[in-house]
Amino acid sequence: MKKLVSVGDPIEHSLSPVMHNVALKKLELDKDYFYDKLLIKSYELGNFVESLKSGELFGASITAPHKVEIIPLLDNLTPEAEIIGAVNMIYLEDGSLIGHNTDGIGCLNALKESGVDVSSKKVVILGAGGASRAIAFTLKKNGANIVILNRTIEKAESLASNVGCEGYGLDKLKELEFDVLINTTTIGMNDEKSLVDPNLLNPSIVVMDIIYNPIKTNLIKDAESKGCKTINGVGMLVHQGAESFKIWTGYDAPIEVMKEAVVNNLNKK
Ligand code: ATR
Repeated sequence: MKKLVSVGDPIEHSLSPVMHNVALKKLELDKDYFYDKLLIKSYELGNFVESLKSGELFGASITAPHKVEIIPLLDNLTPEAEIIGAVNMIYLEDGSLIGHNTDGIGCLNALKESGVDVSSKKVVILGAGGASRAIAFTLKKNGANIVILNRTIEKAESLASNVGCEGYGLDKLKELEFDVLINTTTIGMNDEKSLVDPNLLNPSIVVMDIIYNPIKTNLIKDAESKGCKTINGVGMLVHQGAESFKIWTGYDAPIEVMKEAVVNNLNKK
């Protein structure tokens, strides 16, 4: 049995085991693979990496707070992980541990699935943390015109200069015209009022929130009421997982059953 794991601290609420195990079952791969979660403290990362090298573990998803600190323990990074500066999954190739990042492609594929092609589109990204970085680099590479807005302006400016785009404070939004708006901040996880004045939204704008719990943040609710196309955070969660699934197993992931499992699980909470 090949064992896959999600690793983080905390890890209790990770939806990855549910999502990957239904996918494995659907493709009748559950006799070969099993997906579990592991609470790993930072000081335990060395031992964890050894269990990947020894084959005790077959692959892993990496979540907070280990996405950056795991890097020096790996043999190689993919170009995506290198440029994003963080690892969200690990696989073994010819005995080498490879760190990769599927967050950006997960966001891109969630947009594509909703019929949104970002090339030449004006995309505003709220937030300048790790998720913003992954998304900004990936969408820029796919031809989007990005503007990064963040509460702490210096962080917006610094990330923007890395990505090669513009960066401002959140206030700038009212001066901008844009096609797609993506929230990567934590605002909305606890039912906070959205950072976006609903009057700035109209039906020609696509609004995506990468928060998946709650499934409908206040931003998504406001956007729906303004007639926008909306994409909730389940899309990116499932698509980043699907990319990892393909790398580990070699099979295309069954997106719909994964989504259903995630949504059912979130509704239970
Ligand atoms: P992640 O890795 O998930 O992207 P992060 O790196 O902790 O998370 O980033 C959190 C983002 O949410 C940051 O852009 C942060 O803004 P600051 O850089 O100014 O801290 C944003 N954020 C958190 N609390 C916020 C608040 N109350 N108002 C506006 N933005 C907030």
